[in-house]
Amino acid sequence: MSFRLQPSPPARPNRCQLFGPGSRPAIFEKMAQSAADVINLDLEDSVAPDDKAQARTNIIQAIGDIDWGNKHLSVRINGLDTPYWYRDVVDLLEQAGNRLDQIMIPKVGCAADVYAVDALVTAVERAKGRTRPISLEVIIETAAGITHVEEIAASSPRLQAMSLGAADFAASMGMQTTGIGGTQENYYMLREGTKYWADPWHWAQTAIVAACRTHGILPVDGPFGDFSDDEGFRAQALRSATLGMVGKWAIHPKQVALANEVFTPSDSAVTEAREILAAMEQARAEGAGATVYKGRLVDIASIRQAEVIVRQAEMIAT
Ligand code: COA
Ligand code: MG
Repeated sequence: MSFRLQPSPPARPNRCQLFGPGSRPAIFEKMAQSAADVINLDLEDSVAPDDKAQARTNIIQAIGDIDWGNKHLSVRINGLDTPYWYRDVVDLLEQAGNRLDQIMIPKVGCAADVYAVDALVTAVERAKGRTRPISLEVIIETAAGITHVEEIAASSPRLQAMSLGAADFAASMGMQTTGIGGTQENYYMLREGTKYWADPWHWAQTAIVAACRTHGILPVDGPFGDFSDDEGFRAQALRSATLGMVGKWAIHPKQVALANEVFTPSDSAVTEAREILAAMEQARAEGAGATVYKGRLVDIASIRQAEVIVRQAEMIAT
């Protein structure tokens, strides 16, 4: 470990972020009743330009009126290239009650984008005497965003989470696909006439995880568009979890259980992690730094790996 220790991310479950358009208030109560850890009420791309003002009003009212339980409540504002975003922030912070936890900034391209929102949030918080500071989350979904991902992760003490937005990311990168996450037909290796599909999102995901882990931010996988394809969602989510992401978006309620299942460490994984910790404890008592567990090497690094799983399970259980 370098002299500077890796900061821990916020200790709250973020297995599933359920989205819903702010222009569709009929589903807000259903979102509140869902099993998602995080709720994202949307003012951005699921709301048509003519509906932006009404969606803002709907969301402000619902934040106060609906019982959101212990969910982390977030609103996705419009991007900084639009005429809407400043009023999103000002109206939300001036008019929505203290129950609002977080603002999500889409299409962040550089640290100054976060700085701008942070400055506006701070000014309104002070003016209104808000006592619970709003946290921020961002979406990396442009070429600029992924290029500047590390400075974005370091941009503000308010920043808690960072998601990969596959659809806008693909568009910004000029990728030849209309798929939102998952396997892409044309992204394969060929060996002796057989196709082996690879993962075109892997690099961006790993870059996000590294930036997030460096700065104590939660790395999250974004949308999987084909909500009829449960197995495709599960495969994408399992890859994300394996790479270090802590959760995934749901753009339809049926994806919530799938995300919760994948991002909750299984009983067998937790049992194995605890057995590894016990085996290493015994090795330590015998003066050894390495030992054998089920025919494979475990050493002091294995303690840190096992602790990731145990900590995650304990945090979710509390
Ligand atoms: N959250 C909670 N409940 C939802 C929901 C959501 N995001 N989307 C749909 N529902 C409800 C419906 O009201 C319906 O409830 P009912 O059984 O009581 O009638 C049920 O879930 C089944 O809905 P279904 O008919 O399958 O979907 P739909 O055609 O109503 O809506 C979408 C499909 C994709 C348009 C809708 O899920 C949606 O808007 N998702 C979020 C989009 C979004 O926010 N995008 C931005 C981030 S990428
Ligand atoms: Mg987007």
